[in-house]
Amino acid sequence: MINDPLPRLDTNSQAWRALLPLCRLKKGEIWIDDQSGHRVGCLNASSAADIAKLMSGETATLAIHDPPYNLVAFDERPIEQYIDWCSQWISTTESVLAPNASLYVWLGADQNNHFQPLPEFMLMMRAFRFQTRSFITMRNQRGYGTQKNWMAVRQELLYYIRGNPPFNIDAEYTDIPKILRGYYKEVKGQMTENGQRGKSENIRAGNVWVDIQQVFYRMDENVSGCYAQKPLKSIERIVRASSNPGDWVLDFFAHSGTTLLAAERHQRRCATIDTDPVFCEIAIRRLEHFRQTGKLGWQNGNAFGQPRSSPLPAPVGEGPTHAPNSKRDARGEGRA
Ligand SMILES: C[S@@+](CC[C@H](N)C(=O)[O-])C[C@H]1O[C@@H](n2cnc3c(N)ncnc32)[C@H](O)[C@@H]1O
Repeated sequence: MINDPLPRLDTNSQAWRALLPLCRLKKGEIWIDDQSGHRVGCLNASSAADIAKLMSGETATLAIHDPPYNLVAFDERPIEQYIDWCSQWISTTESVLAPNASLYVWLGADQNNHFQPLPEFMLMMRAFRFQTRSFITMRNQRGYGTQKNWMAVRQELLYYIRGNPPFNIDAEYTDIPKILRGYYKEVKGQMTENGQRGKSENIRAGNVWVDIQQVFYRMDENVSGCYAQKPLKSIERIVRASSNPGDWVLDFFAHSGTTLLAAERHQRRCATIDTDPVFCEIAIRRLEHFRQTGKLGWQNGNAFGQPRSSPLPAPVGEGPTHAPNSKRDARGEGRA
């Protein structure tokens, strides 16, 4: 693999502008995949018209959203504004989910500011007709912090449902072998092993996921230029647990296209969007690259195949639609 990573595209507006002419989607446009029927839109999650256009009458069994977290490193807004924006994309999600459906939302909690926006988001969700199901924490290997505080290594994942959606228990088993055989209970004077635990040699992930490697530049799935890529294994676990082959899976914050790739690998159809045409292009190229090579990302190369000797094309246009931001990655998801 060529050692030629892109810089973080949210903090390097020159690289971002150089890539713009290579993008096939402009704002408002949708790419429709002619092989599996996936859709990638350069659209806005909070726009009801955009989401109606994306789905054109279809409904989804599962939504997996990973919005910007309202942390300092990602363009922090007043909390009321952020929550109002969240309620808009929850509302657009609700409008295209099937009656029996699951909704997963990744969210941060700022330990230096009353854990915002997590509690406000949880309270806001009470106004919607979703039931809470689980509060999952995924453990990162690398964290951020000081010598005077616990290292921050957690990623929060909220799981909601409506109606009676699928939950495929097989997806919950990890690769970690069981050491203890589980607990025993007495039934009619006989000691018996708990039934579900007896079915697998491996332990269940439960709602604290400790078995997933955070993405870093040496991994095949690394997508350089992206600053908030979720591990494919985490998204595949959700896709396998909460949808069935052929179902529509939504992701309104595509970025590196992790949900698109997970849907492809598990025979689901993905409808995903990003407001940024460069991230839409990266997501589509990641899918195409997987189909051509079987690879999950570019490791330390990049989606645009620009070797070091031929520099990126000269920048054009006015610059990113988002404010370039030079602050530290507070999710702890930056590349090592
Ligand atoms: C945290 S990243 C998602 C990471 C993704 N789960 C992955 O694994 O690559 C958030 C993405 O949301 C996009 N975004 C921000 N506001 C948006 C909006 N209103 N509608 C659609 N996408 C938006 C950003 O451009 C960014 O790419």
